Amino acid sequence: MRHLSVPSAQTQQWLERCRSEKWLAEHTGVTTLGDGNKAIPLNDSAPQAGDESWRGNALVDLEPKGKPPSHWSEHLDPEVFETHKDDWPKAYETQGDVLIVKIEDGLWDYAEMMADAMLTQLPNIRLVCADLGVHGDFRVRDLHPLATRDGTVETRTRIRENGYMLWVDASKVYFSARLANERIETLATAKQLAARLNRGIVVADPYAGVGPSMGALLGEADLLTGYHAGDLNPDAVELLSANLAHLTAKRKTVDGNDAPMIHPATVVCSDATTWTHDETLKGSCDLLLVNLPHDSIEHLPHVLPLLRGDQTAVLRGWAIVERTQEAESQQRIEAAIAQAGHHIESMQFNEVKGFSASKSFVCFEAWLGRHD
Ligand SMILES: C[S@@+](CC[C@H](N)C(=O)[O-])C[C@H]1O[C@@H](n2cnc3c(N)ncnc32)[C@H](O)[C@@H]1O
Repeated sequence: MRHLSVPSAQTQQWLERCRSEKWLAEHTGVTTLGDGNKAIPLNDSAPQAGDESWRGNALVDLEPKGKPPSHWSEHLDPEVFETHKDDWPKAYETQGDVLIVKIEDGLWDYAEMMADAMLTQLPNIRLVCADLGVHGDFRVRDLHPLATRDGTVETRTRIRENGYMLWVDASKVYFSARLANERIETLATAKQLAARLNRGIVVADPYAGVGPSMGALLGEADLLTGYHAGDLNPDAVELLSANLAHLTAKRKTVDGNDAPMIHPATVVCSDATTWTHDETLKGSCDLLLVNLPHDSIEHLPHVLPLLRGDQTAVLRGWAIVERTQEAESQQRIEAAIAQAGHHIESMQFNEVKGFSASKSFVCFEAWLGRHD
């Protein structure tokens, strides 16, 4: 197989050029030659030896490397890799075709090189971004583009979760793929509630973000008759509206026919604590989702009046609480429910594993009975 022989220090630069020109052979890696040069494997579309594109670098014939690289770090210069071996990121997150990675302070000089190696290894990734942490009231990520496959640096992308598609944008709207299982649990609860009431249900999701919970619920035939969804972040509402339009259009009945019109189908950009200023929203829903983990419990008195009081209704929420204050937090939720005039039939308060070690991320679910 033809390889381009380049001085070691120019390896990343030539790798990037060959990848962007689509000259790089797939499923094989860079080889170190006897003279210290690096050999970059080329595919059939790469120019012939002597072409001016190669700027005087020679082409050599080599057996392709036996085993294709299985990790992005195998595309780095081995000496650079070894020198910083404890600093390279051990993990990264992907949202659609965007890869998000945290960079150690001492590694910034190599960040672009690393991003390039990631693009080489991961064909479905378009953009690699450094994660500079969360900022602002909407807790969105500050992202710095490091390398792009096609010249675009848009962080808006589409993902598939539990079978439904969602537009997301990590630099503008909070979204966590780690909560996908919570969405499955929300669906299970909604189905139980619909079975108990023997009818379709209305959900309120006032902290909807891009609408992943709505994705789970609207994907289930004959479950929802209506929804009120919203967010305070205008960028979230833009993506939420696009996602709801797509999810609603795809709805079918259990027999596979087009589903009846969903009503209400409200999407609002407003502070959830003001929703009940609209009298028509009071007592309008069967299932209420409260996902503002740093403030969910404080917001409960404002949003609980959205739930119906004349039939069984369910509150499902998420909160971040001090480990030492779990019991107290549960009591505060119970007190807010009593204050809103509901009585608790059953209550669950469980930690969702895999988040912070110092605090617990909990899911609470209360089944509320009718007023006597
Ligand atoms: C933790 S995120 C949850 C988003 C979504 N439910 C999810 O699971 O991906 C909380 C959302 O609440 C929104 N938010 C913050 N304060 C709000 C408020 N007072 N009223 C409505 N939404 C708010 C944020 O913009 C953010 O999208």
